[in-house]
Amino acid sequence: MKIAISGKGGVGKTTIMALLANYLKESGRDILIIDADPSPHMAQTIGIKNVEKIVPIAEMRSMLAERSGKSEGSPFYNLNPEVDDLLERFMVEEDSLKLMVLGAIQTAKGGCACPENTVLRRLLTTLLLSPERIILLDMEAGVEHLGRGTIASVDLLLIVVIPSRSSIRTALKIKKLAEDSGIADIAFVANLIQDEDDEQFIKKHLDPRPVAFFPEAKSVRKSERQGEPVTRAGGDMAGAVRELAEYVGSRNVRGQRTEDRGRKDE
Ligand SMILES: Nc1ncnc2c1ncn2[C@@H]1O[C@H](COP(=O)(O)OP(=O)(O)OP(=O)(O)O)[C@@H](O)[C@H]1O
Ligand SMILES: [Mg+2]
Repeated sequence: MKIAISGKGGVGKTTIMALLANYLKESGRDILIIDADPSPHMAQTIGIKNVEKIVPIAEMRSMLAERSGKSEGSPFYNLNPEVDDLLERFMVEEDSLKLMVLGAIQTAKGGCACPENTVLRRLLTTLLLSPERIILLDMEAGVEHLGRGTIASVDLLLIVVIPSRSSIRTALKIKKLAEDSGIADIAFVANLIQDEDDEQFIKKHLDPRPVAFFPEAKSVRKSERQGEPVTRAGGDMAGAVRELAEYVGSRNVRGQRTEDRGRKDE
């Protein structure tokens, strides 16, 4: 199953993805996080050691060009490049949480014609082949990436909102674009909730209502300032993470609810 997260800048996408990853890992799932933000920040958030040594795959331009079969001056390149070994080579692991940092995918104006992108896209599609593994894609802020089709093949898109009009506006724009690009299953997740008013504001302006409400937590801010993994901040966020994980557990590939699938298979 492949799950992506999106939303306005700074609303808590990386934080929520890290907490979800950790919860699912502790319940025995095989988790791979892919950091697809051009300014990657997931490694710090989950507490990977030696973060400075991680090279985003997108920066390995000559390796990507070679894989794509692109040669100087040639207009041709390979549409099915070999990618099977790349995950093993570029994945880092800490405490059974696996992370691959993708970095910035270059886009040519007016549609992407970069052969390097073919390699990255193929890598993403190949990773889907393992059904037991849950792949969590942390995305950059805003709507731009939806136009690139990078996440068109996800099974579930989580859109993070905070109690502000602008965050809700961006969330609704993302939802529309995601629907247009064929994403089957889309859910909102609320963050930075301080009180009942915040929760009501979001419920009033968003349909459907978010599947989980994360409180604004001092422990999260503190752990970020101290450079500690958010997964250790825990406590205040536990209820919301469980809610979100339960929602994820009730979904399945390509937006079917697990129980519906069971019924259809009977
Ligand atoms: N529930 C929360 N309580 C307190 N602080 C939070 C909470 N969620 C996120 N934060 C803090 O808000 C800041 C932004 O969070 P985060 O990096 O997860 O957002 P983001 O949406 O991934 O940002 P970007 O758009 O830059 O990728 C961080 O300092 C994080 O520690
Ligand atoms: Mg982020």
